[in-house]
Amino acid sequence: FDIDWDASAATMGGYPDFMAKEIAEQPEAIERLLKDRLGPDGVRLDELAMTDEEIAAIDRIFIVACGTSYHVGLIARPLIEEWARIPVAVEPASEFNYEDVLVTDHTLCIIITQSGETADTLASARKMHAAGAKVLAVTNVIGSSAAREADGVLYVQAGPEVSVASTKAYTAQMVAAELIALFLAQRNGNLGAREVARRFHELQRVPAMIREVLHRSWQDEAAARAFVESSSALFLGRGLNATTAAEGALKLKEISYLHAEAYPAGEMKHGPIALIDPGFPVVVICPDDRVRYKTLSNIQEVKARGATVVTVATDGDQKTAQLSDYLLLVPAAPEYLVPIVAVVHLQMLARYVALARGCDIDKPRNLAKSVTVE
Ligand code: G6P
Repeated sequence: FDIDWDASAATMGGYPDFMAKEIAEQPEAIERLLKDRLGPDGVRLDELAMTDEEIAAIDRIFIVACGTSYHVGLIARPLIEEWARIPVAVEPASEFNYEDVLVTDHTLCIIITQSGETADTLASARKMHAAGAKVLAVTNVIGSSAAREADGVLYVQAGPEVSVASTKAYTAQMVAAELIALFLAQRNGNLGAREVARRFHELQRVPAMIREVLHRSWQDEAAARAFVESSSALFLGRGLNATTAAEGALKLKEISYLHAEAYPAGEMKHGPIALIDPGFPVVVICPDDRVRYKTLSNIQEVKARGATVVTVATDGDQKTAQLSDYLLLVPAAPEYLVPIVAVVHLQMLARYVALARGCDIDKPRNLAKSVTVE
């Protein structure tokens, strides 16, 4: 599945900045990753180099990563646990490296790193190897240090990502994580072939859904007005979308220098609600899922205190529309796909806020694309 590309060959191709280009490239990146992945025996991930016996024997998985890639791990954990019934722990590499973790010969470590060069993540891989665990790398860069360090490598094939704020690598890595979850579940017998194929076909709908969201960038441009004069913002979500909220807040911090805090929506009452005063911008990820009615009550709580509410909601959700000042609409999708689609709005929102505040989109101050020191 290797593809040939060279970062120096990346050009903006008519886009105003690399971030805009990379946001737009997400559908094709995911199509490339999914191509030829479903065979007669289910999801094919030969690169992981794991036998059925090894997979059946896995006692625990550690997912270790940094920054945006760490958020991919947070999305992957509940899916691997639910689909493959394997316990998963997710740690930022900078913490993991100083912990005394329980490792056996049957422990699997998955490192996720766009660049494949993040020093903390590479140190985690070495630590896990030394402890006897098998290490898989999910990375974007062919022949990177992570790829060389690992026992198996899944290349996400997103193409060169130049903008410091990660966008297409994030969504491609989430798809890769879902492929790994399906692969493990099918190989250890927790999901039947038909169910794996059904979920794979659902994943194939993601590029079209992202294209639809890209056509709605005007919604993000309009909502950006709520942030321009503000010095802080709150992002709320539940379940997988607590992580979508975290990633949305991270994007906003990185490129617009606005303070942004993300909270699981149900935790808001234990502190962040004190922040809310009239006009305070609150982004709520409230798709049509099993906790929608709970998230709606959070919207009511912040609305009652005068917040300006920007909601990521599912097409046709009238109730949520009535309660929101700005709507970022996503097509209806199964819960495990929503984070991949919804985050595209938050990427565009962060970019529009940063533009309105006159920030350098691709090279935000104090940040590096790849942090090669621990
Ligand atoms: C830096 C970048 C982030 C990135 C993180 C991890 O902090 O600015 O955008 O998420 O490193 O990078 P990696 O290449 O390991 O995914």
